[in-house]
Amino acid sequence: MPAAPKRKTSARKTTRKAAPKRKTAARKGPVNKGARGEWVLITGASAGIGEALAGKFAEGGFDLVLAARSKDKLAKLGKKLSAKHGIATEVAQIDLAKPGAPRDLFDEMVSRGIDIDVLVNNAGVLEMGAFKTQAPETLGDMIRLNTVALTELAALFVPPMAKRRSGRVLNVASVASFQPVPSLAVYAGTKAFVLSLTESLAEELKPDGVTVTALCPGITETNMFGTIKSSNERTEKIPSFLVGDVQEVAQEGYDACIKGDVVRVPGLAYAMTTSIGRAAPRWLTRLVAGTIGRQMM
Ligand SMILES: NC(=O)c1ccc[n+]([C@@H]2O[C@H](COP(=O)([O-])OP(=O)(O)OC[C@H]3O[C@@H](n4cnc5c(N)ncnc54)[C@H](OP(=O)(O)O)[C@@H]3O)[C@@H](O)[C@H]2O)c1
Repeated sequence: MPAAPKRKTSARKTTRKAAPKRKTAARKGPVNKGARGEWVLITGASAGIGEALAGKFAEGGFDLVLAARSKDKLAKLGKKLSAKHGIATEVAQIDLAKPGAPRDLFDEMVSRGIDIDVLVNNAGVLEMGAFKTQAPETLGDMIRLNTVALTELAALFVPPMAKRRSGRVLNVASVASFQPVPSLAVYAGTKAFVLSLTESLAEELKPDGVTVTALCPGITETNMFGTIKSSNERTEKIPSFLVGDVQEVAQEGYDACIKGDVVRVPGLAYAMTTSIGRAAPRWLTRLVAGTIGRQMM
């Protein structure tokens, strides 16, 4: 997808020194410093894959809106990336599992005068364990964050992109999107939703100039994997070649988003197993997933 044309921003008072790059009449908001003159909103940017993605987009010259609950971590990251890459950064403290939060975040961007060119739907949580022992409310919270908030954010930010005939959405799914995963049944369900939504929207939004990409990482060395390890000693048996490096995963996500690829599975081992899984009959996929998954409970 070709780079979006630069937009103009009317001159306005700002703490930033660089000249404005955009041309939007009577536009209020921070003046961009990044080479691209485009804003990326990254949810779950305070840690893990989201934090690493923020680094990749900063390297690419994008200005960043960093969103999550941990305001201090976001502010520290924003300051660091701003100083290193000469980009503008903004922080949005938000709990996206709360009903109405995506709309609040969208309204906040409007009031700050920021048009989002790239939406990175990364925030997510994982609950592992036997379904019959899991708290229904916790599962509900996970579904709200992993699917409802992600969908509402896309539904809010895509229409302005389509109007400008330019935009990108990067949804962080998982290898769990491709098959059932006993012990991660609801999590896998949320990620299957993300992949399906992404593939549908990628086709639907083609005529609007908006690309939609699903990044489908396998196990990646982040806090999320740390939580799994501490709650289940059997995960120690996972061979190290199956544990992805967070920077490599983020680089693949960034590259796929910029290229406009629809599905990207980082790492050869996971790319091969998901391809084989998609070609295999459903009963066989269930049998293999069940045999492995039951051992993790
Ligand atoms: N790590 C893996 O093995 C793996 C594999 C496949 C896919 N993924 C997916 O990758 C994405 C990132 O995961 P990760 O491994 O980087 O996890 P992580 O290190 O635990 O980071 C999760 C991020 O989401 C934010 N977050 C959590 N709850 C939130 C809420 N209610 N509202 C707003 N932000 C919230 C966290 O920030 P705050 O706590 O500050 O809010 C944090 O920035 C998730 O969608 C996950 O499902 C991960």
